[in-house]
Amino acid sequence: MSVSSPEFKYESMLDEYPDTAIIFGESAHNQLNGFLIKEQVNSALVFAGGSRSGSLNKAVPTLFTLFSSTDFEVPSYMNIPPEPTVADICAMRDVIAKEQPDIIVAVGGGSVMDAAKAACLSVESGMDVTELFGVSRASQKAPGKKFKRIICVPTTAGTGSEVTPYANIVDPETRVKKLIVEPQIIPEYAFVNPHFGLTMPRELTLTTALDALVHCVESELNIRAENAHPSAAAWGIQGIRLISAALPAALEKPENELARQYLSAAATLGGMCIKNRPTSLPHLCSFSFYGQVPHGLAVAALLPPFWNYYLGDDAVREATMKMAGIFSKIPEKTPEQVVASCAAFIASCGGPARLSDLKCPREILAKTARDALLNPVKLQTSPRPLDPSGASDILLKILEKAW
Ligand SMILES: [Fe+2]
Repeated sequence: MSVSSPEFKYESMLDEYPDTAIIFGESAHNQLNGFLIKEQVNSALVFAGGSRSGSLNKAVPTLFTLFSSTDFEVPSYMNIPPEPTVADICAMRDVIAKEQPDIIVAVGGGSVMDAAKAACLSVESGMDVTELFGVSRASQKAPGKKFKRIICVPTTAGTGSEVTPYANIVDPETRVKKLIVEPQIIPEYAFVNPHFGLTMPRELTLTTALDALVHCVESELNIRAENAHPSAAAWGIQGIRLISAALPAALEKPENELARQYLSAAATLGGMCIKNRPTSLPHLCSFSFYGQVPHGLAVAALLPPFWNYYLGDDAVREATMKMAGIFSKIPEKTPEQVVASCAAFIASCGGPARLSDLKCPREILAKTARDALLNPVKLQTSPRPLDPSGASDILLKILEKAW
């Protein structure tokens, strides 16, 4: 597939999303001005990360140039590290309480956006961050209350956090990443400018794009998700097509603007997908690799073995065949061949071909199989449901075979 293939219709798909107003394109940030006027904004606070991404260096000054035309000061807090912890969120919560901004703008990758979502929810709900871990804790405590939502300007193309109800935060006591799931943290606006990704280093381009790819594939396979948007499956297929066409091109020529556009669109589509049809075992098991391997590489290595396991379910086989011909020029005839083509694509881009390529000690397999039991709901709602009582043995067998 050519990177300039005319079959991509992602812009109309981004417009379909009911939960976040998505403004996409190289002039997206300029439309922030119109938003500030329309919403009669009188104060704003910007959250951003450190300097780990070259893209951030371009996005932040661009936004501050924009804010300089406003008649109010825009304070910023730029100390959000990768993999933010509960302590980081507490510090951000104090800044929000001091500044009392009309709007909060998160500029950065998934870590910054997740942290800003969590800090804003903590202030709005009056709850400690640790009380927010779990599903809809804040909404349940204050039924019917509307919380203020943040605005996102993503600078990488991976997590899709700019449109999801999720925030991953590290619990320092257990050194484990914990998840906040809350519909009211879905950002209100996402200003997605693919140009901010042009200066991403190669490794970040690869790991973020693989994360987005796995979001889209896992979402496609989640055939049992309830109340999903009717277009969610189409968004996922589109995201997979975009990444399979654009990732090799962006890796070969980082300044390829069209490829960056496709990767940005695919990442946002991936976020839209997993809001509706969430991820399952590859993402669940990836949490055990936290701190040792970039998230995108972990999920990319875990996808093929679990996907092959899911193929024991006929409905998953059918869903898999909808991806035939995306990863291979000659359309595959069996679901097993589709999984093999996807694995070959990941490896051809420089991703892991086997779990052992992640270079972790082999003991991580048993730990992963044990850790997964902490989330029995994910096991029972996976595309091929697992009974928690026997899940650990089955998971370990799958992981050992994939080593
Ligand atoms: Fe992910």
